[in-house]
Amino acid sequence: IGVIFLNDVLFAYIMKISVIGVGYVGLATAAVLAELGNDVIAADIDKKKIDSLNSGIMPIFEPGLKELVARNIREKRLRFTHDNKEVIRHGEIIFICVGTPPKENWETELKYVKNVAMEIAHNMDSYKVIVHKSTVPVETGDNVRKVIHDNIKKSVDFDVVSNPEFLREGSAIKDTLEPDRIVIGSGSQKAIGIMKKLYEPLKAPLIVTDMRSAEIIKHASNAFLATKISFINSVARICEMSGADVEKIAEGMGHDRRIGKEFLNAGIGYGGSCFPKDSQAFIKIAESYGYDYKLLKATNEINEEQKEHFFKKIKDALNNLNGKQIGILGMSFKPNTDDLRFAPSIYIINELQKEGAKIKAYDPEAMEKAKQVFNSIEYCKDPYEASKDADALIILTEWNEFRELDMEKIKKLMKRSLIIDGRNIYSPENMKKSGFHYISIGRQDVV
Ligand code: UDX
Repeated sequence: IGVIFLNDVLFAYIMKISVIGVGYVGLATAAVLAELGNDVIAADIDKKKIDSLNSGIMPIFEPGLKELVARNIREKRLRFTHDNKEVIRHGEIIFICVGTPPKENWETELKYVKNVAMEIAHNMDSYKVIVHKSTVPVETGDNVRKVIHDNIKKSVDFDVVSNPEFLREGSAIKDTLEPDRIVIGSGSQKAIGIMKKLYEPLKAPLIVTDMRSAEIIKHASNAFLATKISFINSVARICEMSGADVEKIAEGMGHDRRIGKEFLNAGIGYGGSCFPKDSQAFIKIAESYGYDYKLLKATNEINEEQKEHFFKKIKDALNNLNGKQIGILGMSFKPNTDDLRFAPSIYIINELQKEGAKIKAYDPEAMEKAKQVFNSIEYCKDPYEASKDADALIILTEWNEFRELDMEKIKKLMKRSLIIDGRNIYSPENMKKSGFHYISIGRQDVV
């Protein structure tokens, strides 16, 4: 361990770090810890992914990631390997960042975490801090410790830490470099000391706790945010029926500091790789202790209903969908990502196609991934091509470029001037001026 001076502002202790699993979390963690000056090796069993990374090709689209990885490879602080043995021996701290996907019944699949724990047990040859960063059910840390303890080959000491990751897709690097908080859960003062030293340069609030609380902080945070979204989507439904405006309501509520402005955007429901899976997993965790998590169940139901409700709006506006030409703007589950996992677009496009609608779609980043998800879609080079001859233009993701379209041009291209906006990106006043029939969420229709 030494001290270096980096970027004129950061003092960092150089540590040897290993990262196992190079998905969103693993890659962002590895890149940021290397940027802080540490000596990082990251491993993944996917050999193709590792080879691509070593030649500078990123497996995901994430602002700033490519440059960060390239710089740290060049400056020899970051290396990728598919040799788990090498990676386990390297680090004083080993981050487990492998996937924890949902099983069919929404319980968390922990076999990848367990496999890594076994490999660590077999290959560890000196004291290690083993950190699990992936989102896992409470008590996973204790199970990891037991697996390692029961299978350890060489008698060396180790500690287990829970250090959940809160990064958002689309701002993964920024969130990892400037986290709102860092949670460190462990029963070992030695491990806590090492983790504190590692994160010191980030100057973020540190919450030190026991391992189980740290694990629940992650699930509870995502469950709370999902609930906030379903809450405002429910209010949006009441707005539609009562003639109120959900945007104004969110503003009026958000000024109350206890509520806060963020995550009060009504829309077509949350998607992505975290909220749907983590909220369902938390319900299952509660169930395993005998608690019926009614609030979170309702959160999920409302989220499903919101997509159905939006589809009904489209159907009502067009009467019969059979043979209708629909332009879709945005397919990723949110802007600034190419990720379609659990995206509301999947339900909506599938339902439209089931009823015989013809789809032309455009997304600034998600076109390639969309091709793996949808059949029989005509992919367009820009929003204008998607609007051509359309009976309706539907906004499913709030990409910034959709806010700045030439609406006159769109109107001329479309067969009918009907926009159905699942993300409230336009003002009803402007739509009225431009002569559109405009339908959005939690606001009155412009006819
Ligand atoms: C989320 C958490 O924010 C992050 O802390 C955690 O580690 C992983 O899960 P992410 O899945 O990248 O991150 O997406 P996020 O930006 O939080 O958005 C989740 C979903 O909620 C998106 O589908 C988004 O469209 C939706 N959303 C968000 C709304 O519908 N309304 C809002 O006001 C905010």
